[in-house]
Amino acid sequence: MRLITKEEMRRVFSMNEAIEAMKQAFRLFSEGRSVVPLRTNIDVGKYEGQALFMPAYVEETQSLGLKIVSVFPGNAKLGKPVVPATMVHMDSRTGEVLAIMDGTYLTQVRTGAAAGAATDLLARKDATVGALIGAGGQSSAQLEAMLTARKLKEVRIFDADETRAKETAKTQGEIWEKAGVRIVTSKSGEEAVDGADVITTVTTAKNPVFPAEAVKKGAHVNGIGSYRPDMQEMPPGLFLKAQKVFVESREAVLAESGDLINPIGKGLFTEKIITGELGELIAGKVVGRENDGDITVFKTVGIGVQDVVAAGEIFRKAVEKGVGTEFDL
Ligand SMILES: NC(=O)c1ccc[n+]([C@@H]2O[C@H](COP(=O)([O-])OP(=O)(O)OC[C@H]3O[C@@H](n4cnc5c(N)ncnc54)[C@H](O)[C@@H]3O)[C@@H](O)[C@H]2O)c1
Repeated sequence: MRLITKEEMRRVFSMNEAIEAMKQAFRLFSEGRSVVPLRTNIDVGKYEGQALFMPAYVEETQSLGLKIVSVFPGNAKLGKPVVPATMVHMDSRTGEVLAIMDGTYLTQVRTGAAAGAATDLLARKDATVGALIGAGGQSSAQLEAMLTARKLKEVRIFDADETRAKETAKTQGEIWEKAGVRIVTSKSGEEAVDGADVITTVTTAKNPVFPAEAVKKGAHVNGIGSYRPDMQEMPPGLFLKAQKVFVESREAVLAESGDLINPIGKGLFTEKIITGELGELIAGKVVGRENDGDITVFKTVGIGVQDVVAAGEIFRKAVEKGVGTEFDL
């Protein structure tokens, strides 16, 4: 069995590789060639925690595994992570566990890569300005994905927590300066998205984080944050204004995301607003951007297929490069 740390995962699996892996994962998912049972949640009432178990299997990529994510708010007081996560990668021929790896980093990289894949497929090729709303745990991978998919010159960051936005802009600014990218902060979501070509929202917001009117023609928008009906970051007007709306899973997004559930519930539009799944676009079953002036949207809540496919790739690359620590139980 191999233990693969966050640093080792980073070393063997680039954002470009992650984006390609997510395109494959989404295509196989939309073609019905994956097994993704509903996740199992166990309430650990005594410690006000919840343990979530997310298994999946994709035959074509030999990806079989389980992500364990716990949400224990009390951990903050103990100086421990509030959402610890671990990925277990298995051998699909024998059922044996082959590797254990950092689930938090896996989530960041596969979620960033999902938006990166959508941006690569849908954003205008000549995009120069990005906007990132939300400067939390997922933000650095989202920024990396955005900058991997398009050669942007400037990215504006906005977060309701101004200090966090400034700190992220400073740290990321130092990293991306060498690539000629200017990272700045904005005073509001509206200011950040105004004139931006690529927009990503990755917040825990319960109300839209920018007005639809501020989104220019030709922009591409990724919505990452809202994964519960009571969460919403994208304004309903954006969906009405957009020419193309993609999701990674119709079923998951319509069951989980307030971004679509709320406006559909209010009768502002129906689920027909969805053009298709990203995997259908990749398979050539639906058409993406048709005009430079089109506004395109991608909404994702995250599916287990992404985890197992990314983990399988990381494992194979780690073995190839001799990275990770081998151990016997
Ligand atoms: N789609 C997916 O596959 C996927 C994967 C992982 C996480 N997520 C979700 O993405 C969201 C962000 O994750 P994270 O780990 O970065 O969370 P986090 O708690 O680390 O950061 C969230 C940030 O959002 C900011 N925020 C909240 N409301 C805001 C508002 N109205 N305007 C601007 N900023 C606001 C907060 O200040 C915070 O900095 C969460 O909801 C998480 O569950 C989705």
